[in-house]
Amino acid sequence: MKTLSRLFENNRKWASRITESDPSFFQSLAWQQHPEFLWIGCSDSRVPANEIVGLLPGEMFVHRNVANLVVSTDMNCLSAIQFAVDVLRVPHIIVCGHYGCGGVLATLREQRLGLVDNWLSHVQDVRAKYRVEIEALPTESERHDRLCELNVIEQVANVCQTTIVRDAWARGQSLVVHGWIYSLGDGLLRDLGMCIADERELAACHDSALDGILEQFQI
Ligand code: CO
Repeated sequence: MKTLSRLFENNRKWASRITESDPSFFQSLAWQQHPEFLWIGCSDSRVPANEIVGLLPGEMFVHRNVANLVVSTDMNCLSAIQFAVDVLRVPHIIVCGHYGCGGVLATLREQRLGLVDNWLSHVQDVRAKYRVEIEALPTESERHDRLCELNVIEQVANVCQTTIVRDAWARGQSLVVHGWIYSLGDGLLRDLGMCIADERELAACHDSALDGILEQFQI
């Protein structure tokens, strides 16, 4: 298994399936890409970006990291956003979290996993900001779901606050930032109500998205 031949075999089958339905598919894509979406998601193997939204190669620019975080000092994520916004001119950025996120659960449990704890300190910041709302929930499962949702909302706000997105809006570029969450249990996406097309919408949209998720669990 040194060469992982199964993966090469899968790849040959996949490429021939696509070529059968569209013989020029790969040739035309090789020249240029015009994706409409930038996806910022979790690295979790159960959340394959293109697959869950049924998009082909060329249709979505993707950045994934542990716990779908957008940190203003992370050159990797910022570079993906800048390239997508300034060069590819995508009209939509989607931050997609997921329920059952291991990174979020480790944060909730204050587990030590190693180096990744430093990265997850950004989720810890979200947890600290909403400690009261999270602690009010009776079960760990509910607290986990809530922190996954709140984390998406905060990361959408972080995207909107980057100089890249603010500059794009300032020059009148059409750009909408969305916050979604994916359920591992049924394979379905849910819109968290963060849908921001302008810097001025951020505060109001942030508040109403928070109200939306906090209300659903109120007894
Ligand atoms: Co995850």
